[in-house]
Amino acid sequence: MCGIFGVIGKDNNSAQTVLNGLKKLEYRGYDSWGIAIKNNGQIKIERHVGKIGQAQTKLPQSTIGLGHTRWATHGGVTIGNAHPHLDCTKKLCLVHNGIVENFRSIKESLTKTHRFSSETDTEAALHLIEEKTKSGSFLKGFQKAFSQVHGMNAFIILNAKTNELFAIKNGSPLTIGLGKNENYISSDVWALLDHTNKVIFLEDNQMAHISQDSVKIFNVKTGKSIKPKITTLNWQAEQSKLGKFHHYMEKEIFDQPKVIDNLVRLDKKIIKKTADLISQTSKTYLLGCGTAYYAALVGEYLLNFLGIDANAIIGSEFSKNKNLLTQDKAFIMLSQSGETIDVIEAVNLAKKRKMPITAITNVLGSTLYRKADEKILLSAGQEVAVASTKAFTAKLAILLQVYYYLKGDLKAGKQLISQSAKVSQKIIKGKTRQLIKNIAKKIKDVDNMFVIARSLSFPIALETALKIKEVSYIHAEGYAAGELKHGPIALIDQDTPCIVIAPNDNTYTDTISSAHEVKARGGFIIGLSHENNPVFDEFIQVPDLKEATVIPNTVIAQLLAYDLAIARGLNPDKPRNLAKSVTVK
Ligand code: BG6
Repeated sequence: MCGIFGVIGKDNNSAQTVLNGLKKLEYRGYDSWGIAIKNNGQIKIERHVGKIGQAQTKLPQSTIGLGHTRWATHGGVTIGNAHPHLDCTKKLCLVHNGIVENFRSIKESLTKTHRFSSETDTEAALHLIEEKTKSGSFLKGFQKAFSQVHGMNAFIILNAKTNELFAIKNGSPLTIGLGKNENYISSDVWALLDHTNKVIFLEDNQMAHISQDSVKIFNVKTGKSIKPKITTLNWQAEQSKLGKFHHYMEKEIFDQPKVIDNLVRLDKKIIKKTADLISQTSKTYLLGCGTAYYAALVGEYLLNFLGIDANAIIGSEFSKNKNLLTQDKAFIMLSQSGETIDVIEAVNLAKKRKMPITAITNVLGSTLYRKADEKILLSAGQEVAVASTKAFTAKLAILLQVYYYLKGDLKAGKQLISQSAKVSQKIIKGKTRQLIKNIAKKIKDVDNMFVIARSLSFPIALETALKIKEVSYIHAEGYAAGELKHGPIALIDQDTPCIVIAPNDNTYTDTISSAHEVKARGGFIIGLSHENNPVFDEFIQVPDLKEATVIPNTVIAQLLAYDLAIARGLNPDKPRNLAKSVTVK
């Protein structure tokens, strides 16, 4: 949550460079933004509430600057709480990503001698740094202050006295970019690609001293210097340009057929490694948050179909399993960003228990990617829209291949998944596209919706409801179709549309019966199925691709959510109150 960015170099344009960096990081939080630079020995700051949009910076020329885009955790969405924050001397300026869990006690210990001007937890850490760096080496003081800060945090600080940038992290991500005549620091790599593809991923409890022509890394605990590990990324900034699309969500939905096709060509060895891990261990846990958790749930169903003991776990509910974590069990961690804090905490504990960890993630070099034993990259290209789309179907394409491999039929599985890419392409480009738009227009004013399905399609019903909630703010609930009559059916009336996902499998008949129960209470039925049925008020045809039918069903759900957002005049890329990569609890 929150995006932080810093630059130091010979180019006198740091305010604009920081602004461009923040625009790339804005999916991490868009409650407010701010930039600070040093000019004529003074720190000059601008802070704004709301999204950056087309804003231009008014700050003067400078060779050093930093900035922040906020997802509020402590203190309302106000100018006063917007970052960057200044210390009492107005010579230290800080931006922060994370939560200073002990900010109250720090603030109490400093209130008599320091002036606080915001409600944020961040400012407490800043004044503590000011206090500890009053004399002696700045680096030592910074190190001491950070060791007294509790929680998962990343800070960038501009020291105007020495014209230097310092950065430090534990938990929240930070990456250094090595440029020509300039060095950069950012919450993630995407904001660095316009400048360089040479990066240093800061590890937990590391700090960096960044000047115009050098980057030095130190261990926070020992103060010892560390030889930086430079990674060269083969990504182009171009890949994440919007192009002819209106929104990133639309672009990323359209990216899916190609992404899935690429994954069908994934080397059998990679699939085999994960399949072997699953068959050599007594139990498999699949863990994720939000959309990634629903992919984990698809994984659980597929493995259970094969009689394999597997459980999907919601990242933030992981602690309930902690006494079950033994070395003979395997962990598959699913995370688009590879930075979601609840996933990283689970990784840290599983590593302590020496459990084999496989990461399925979209970001090379992310914390999850670096910490896992086995890594499967989704290679879906950057996912900018807050609501995850292509990273989800990419995860399904990988889990389906592991399933078909364990079933001893990978070849047929790859064919079905490749077909699902073709069917998805037809849905995106063909008549179905207009049909979905028409349905969205018809139901755009409802407040509530249900999405029901059974068995392997149940996680897709949950994901469908999540997408609709995330971007259209309609309160959609995903339900196991068989569960509806045990309570929620009380909410069904003619103003509550119900999407019924009814693929041609052994649940078809029962799912259609559930649709009839809804219809009997006046419900408006939108059927996703291989054949039409009189119970459907609207019918969207989805060819039968066996287990791989989950992919085109998902693409239809994503398009409906997108069209509902557009029909309701909303921006699907930056839904209110959300952010892309959740690095706070
Ligand atoms: C949320 C995103 O912040 O985090 C969701 O808005 C996403 O789209 C969830 O599913 C989990 O993120 P990740 O990166 O761990 O897959």
